[in-house]
Amino acid sequence: MMIAIASDHGGFALKQEILEHLKKRGIPYEDFGCYTAESCDYPDIAKPACEAVVSGRCEKALLFCGTGIGISMAANKIKGIRACACSDTFSAKYTRLHNDANVLCLGGRVVGPGLAAELVDLFLDTPFEGGRHQLRVDKIMELERE
Ligand code: RB5
Repeated sequence: MMIAIASDHGGFALKQEILEHLKKRGIPYEDFGCYTAESCDYPDIAKPACEAVVSGRCEKALLFCGTGIGISMAANKIKGIRACACSDTFSAKYTRLHNDANVLCLGGRVVGPGLAAELVDLFLDTPFEGGRHQLRVDKIMELERE
């Protein structure tokens, strides 16, 4: 499972923490930046990481900005992406079970590294439930074709 990971400056410190977490878990990742805490624009950062998911090069993406919100808005504009901005464990689990989310967005100014690692683990380890939820996910994807 190759994971795309990316942040703007607001999420940079948390991205670095989560990189260490992925290393400890032995999960391979591709880091799409940013690579310093210098100011940058989250849509520019979301795009290549999400494209790696859509192309199949990466299975999922973990994105970080100050709130997790701006980068999730940008990610959800890319066809094939179902991104969830989240800061609680229930949502991290259910966005996989019910929405088959392929991108998790976290806020470096919202969650600490311990909770972020838990959210990442739930997101990476929880399978999609399918069944009645597949039809709903199909309907979401239909919306972007309209
Ligand atoms: C950058 O200051 C900040 O606006 C950005 O990281 C993010 O929080 C936007 O949603």
